[in-house]
Amino acid sequence: MEKRGVQVVEVGPRDGFQNIPDYIPMELKLEIIRRILAAGVRKVQITSFVSPKAVPQMRDAAELTRVALEEFPQAELFALVPNWKGAERAAQAGLLEISTVISLSESHNKANVGRMVEESLADAARILEHFSHLKIGLDIATAFGCPFEGEMPLEKLLALMDRLYQVGARTFTLCDTIGVAHPQQVREALTAAHREFPQAEVGIHIHDTRNLGIANTYAGILAGADFVQTALGGLGGCPFAPGASGNTATEDLVYLLDQEGMSTGISFERLLEAAKFLHSQVQGNYSGHHIRIGNCGGPN
Ligand code: COA
Ligand code: ZN
Repeated sequence: MEKRGVQVVEVGPRDGFQNIPDYIPMELKLEIIRRILAAGVRKVQITSFVSPKAVPQMRDAAELTRVALEEFPQAELFALVPNWKGAERAAQAGLLEISTVISLSESHNKANVGRMVEESLADAARILEHFSHLKIGLDIATAFGCPFEGEMPLEKLLALMDRLYQVGARTFTLCDTIGVAHPQQVREALTAAHREFPQAEVGIHIHDTRNLGIANTYAGILAGADFVQTALGGLGGCPFAPGASGNTATEDLVYLLDQEGMSTGISFERLLEAAKFLHSQVQGNYSGHHIRIGNCGGPN
């Protein structure tokens, strides 16, 4: 039987590292990225071009990007930018792809980037227009629920996507920032998004706060997500969303997809080694399961 392919995008070096208060030396960050790529991952979100006051961990974004682009020319590397200045800095560092973020809920947008949704929309429109030579993804934070406002209706999500589509957005990531989504909600959101925006790529990014990360991510894959984002070791959270825990762990997902006969091009063993290495080097909040397994048997 032919294996179905799934694009697994690694976001740990951004989503995971941004929560670590102690500075992780740039060489260690690069070593983690090196091991992720060596395991067969093709696309990695390597950093974010944010204010160093908001997230001091990312103060090395420009230098790290420069070195990574030089060392890994075959890889698809991209970074998160919260605003115009971030887009400028990322483009200057030589990236060909960025993702910018906007929250579905007003209060999370304010907590995350200090602005109203309308202001972020205007910035996104400006970025899409000016940096048309770059691939620009739109991350919709709190797409399924907000720590301050509760569940987010699907109509509200589609309305925001429509505004962004009108100004040129063609790649969307529906982010479950605080891990409140459930599989049916993920299926419905993806089905509706593909129906309303057939020209757009739509992926998902699911946090594992309630142990539903893997179920939701898998539901998204079965519902036709164009890509899924996960983080090595499940390291993560959101510094601006109280209670948010780690992302779905990439190695746990790859294990599941291997068992289900879906191809990712990623070696589970090598990725698990990378995750264990990360776990041994960086203290943080990990939601991954395989990194905790001792000698209680192999995959079968
Ligand atoms: N990169 C570096 N510096 C930036 C920047 C960026 N993308 N955007 C703004 N700054 C600098 C400004 O130049 C200014 O510097 P100064 O004090 O030396 O003059 C300072 O930050 C404040 O600028 P301002 O536009 O008023 O921003 P702010 O203080 O309202 O912060 C954000 C807004 C978006 C820059 C900030 O909230 C941020 O970086 N948030 C990160 C959110 C995040 O990473 N969330 C998790 C991932 S979703
Ligand atoms: Zn996240």
